Amino acid sequence: MKKRITRVFLSLCIITLGLSIPACRLEIPELTALSAGLGRGINLGNALEAPREGDWGVILQESFFRWIAQAGFDTVRIPIRWSAHILDDDPYTIDETFFRRVDWAIAQAFSNGLKAVINIHHFIELKEDPSPVHIGILERLWVQIAERYRAYPSTLYYELLSEPGQNITPLLWNEILARIVPVIRSVDPTHTLIIGEIDGTGEDTLSSLRIPPNATPVIATFHYYEPMFFTHQGAAWTEPIYGTTGVSWPGPPQTPIIPCQAALNNLWASWWFEAYNTLPLYENPAGYGPIVERLETAAKWSRANGIPIWLGEFGSIQTADLSSRANWTGFVCRESERLNIDWAYWDFCAAFAAFDLPSESWIDLVLNALIPDKPE
Ligand code: GLC
Repeated sequence: MKKRITRVFLSLCIITLGLSIPACRLEIPELTALSAGLGRGINLGNALEAPREGDWGVILQESFFRWIAQAGFDTVRIPIRWSAHILDDDPYTIDETFFRRVDWAIAQAFSNGLKAVINIHHFIELKEDPSPVHIGILERLWVQIAERYRAYPSTLYYELLSEPGQNITPLLWNEILARIVPVIRSVDPTHTLIIGEIDGTGEDTLSSLRIPPNATPVIATFHYYEPMFFTHQGAAWTEPIYGTTGVSWPGPPQTPIIPCQAALNNLWASWWFEAYNTLPLYENPAGYGPIVERLETAAKWSRANGIPIWLGEFGSIQTADLSSRANWTGFVCRESERLNIDWAYWDFCAAFAAFDLPSESWIDLVLNALIPDKPE
């Protein structure tokens, strides 16, 4: 524990230092990750990965890219549900109108000087049933995408599958990679591939990831939403145990929170709330320690494996109070930057928004947490 406290204290010193000397990145080779070169990014969530664009309330607009670039971001991650826009049968041709919409989004990013990461998002059929047919569709999608974009600038990145997991085991994911990476490389040898760890809901699963050597240039990616009781409080799409609202960060709260019934009925969740309500900051499950530990593990993995790492998603829901959101976001960002881990916030203007679409303005506290040293 003493070691942890010292480490957290050191991190805080470095973060404080980082805030006062904004442009400075501390490079300690044995502790820092290999750079992904993606800088600071944001996810254009709930648009092209909805079943149809607009279904989840977000339709991409030219202005989004301009606002994002002007705020000082370097990269946009564009989540895409290709599987909803293909022919039902072999050769699973991607709908041309939809392809043009993706062309347009990439062009918007480029014309605003932003790097663009496109991915395969919400391929639920594959995650629920990783059968040879669905794995074959994943391959067909990548052949078509790589054929279309192989002549594009290298500032376009291909992320093979967002949050592989569910019924895709770590072993199977490695087999899928061993199969599709060479196929993509035979079509497009140059664009950087981005490969995710099995979505471990906060657990490190990078250690089981086997990235094929012929994937280069390649970046590994992971997501971070811990503690879920804070970041996903009241999120309609998660389990009822995350239904308790009013969870602030960091813990402990000024007055104890009473967990919702589903959390009380769950042993682990009720333990979590007991610890959150009572433990001092440095031992609290909603404290600095778990974040530092997770990010340091990722940085070490990157260094040990010689593969750059990217935090492709992290964020907190708008149900949480704003100053807690800013505290958590700022801590994750500065800690990632200390470790040389580039990041992309989830999301731009949906449930975890950094930008308020109705008023067409940034949520200042969140934006300042993301980019404290933004250009004038
Ligand atoms: C994942 C999901 C996305 C969700 C986000 C936060 O990216 O794909 O739909 O909004 O996590 O839960």
